[in-house]
Amino acid sequence: MKRLNSVEAMRSFRRELEGEVGLVPTMGYLHEGHLSLIRKAVEENDHVVVSLFVNPAQFGPAEDLDKYPRDLERDARLCAEEGVQALFVPATEEIYPEGYQTYIEVTRLTQYLCGLSRPTHFRGVCTIVAKLFQLVRPGKAYFGLKDYQQFKVIERMVKDLHFPVEVIPCPIIREEDGLAMSSRNKYLSDKGRKEALVLRKTLNKARDALKKGVRSARELERIMEESVRSVPSARLDYARVADAETLEPFEGDINPGGTLFALAVYVEETRLIDNMVWSNGQ
Ligand code: PAF
Repeated sequence: MKRLNSVEAMRSFRRELEGEVGLVPTMGYLHEGHLSLIRKAVEENDHVVVSLFVNPAQFGPAEDLDKYPRDLERDARLCAEEGVQALFVPATEEIYPEGYQTYIEVTRLTQYLCGLSRPTHFRGVCTIVAKLFQLVRPGKAYFGLKDYQQFKVIERMVKDLHFPVEVIPCPIIREEDGLAMSSRNKYLSDKGRKEALVLRKTLNKARDALKKGVRSARELERIMEESVRSVPSARLDYARVADAETLEPFEGDINPGGTLFALAVYVEETRLIDNMVWSNGQ
């Protein structure tokens, strides 16, 4: 596996490639969730590039950019074992040099959910993903559905900007006890790790309510809020029921054809997210 540390190295590597190229964008500290994306990419493409870049533009001023976990050597070994051809690890100064001032904004989908508490997050995500698409020129790019809103935002950007890339959604991968995998789970103490199960339990409660016939968005949100509050140390950012396509909230009943149940909860200092989509009774 090649390690590409500069834009020029990435470009010249890409120039030599023929056939289907798959891209898995990551911020590193890989876990089984990332590996599931990489495995799918390896299956579906002739060449796979994994990018590893902790993107400052998507972190807010009070967020965890500096302490974001990193382990480049382990990540490189895992990628090589999965059959990845190249690991693209650009330097921050090359991606955002002095004088940098170009950003991409998806205007509506970003007004809800995580966009409310992280107002510049998605413009940072879109900007780096657009740059990666330019440099890697993949036919397919793989994103995990734990970041459901991110997936919808990128899907929209690709459509609106005519990127010739197929955006492939990949299912949430969970620990055995149900916690959605995330590099940020590492921040949790043993106690916090147990408390973090409240996210999955809350989604299960929403599902139970749906099975009992509850359809009022407000009532479903109330059930989720109450469930999060049952863990006193957990701090709710949001518990929302939204249209799975537009991410807009509902006035009355949910959309039986596609409803997103989305949660963001602070456990200790760590902000965790999880979600499920309810579609035609499933
Ligand atoms: O999902 C992530 O890890 C990041 O948001 C991404 C897509 C790699 C962009 O930095």
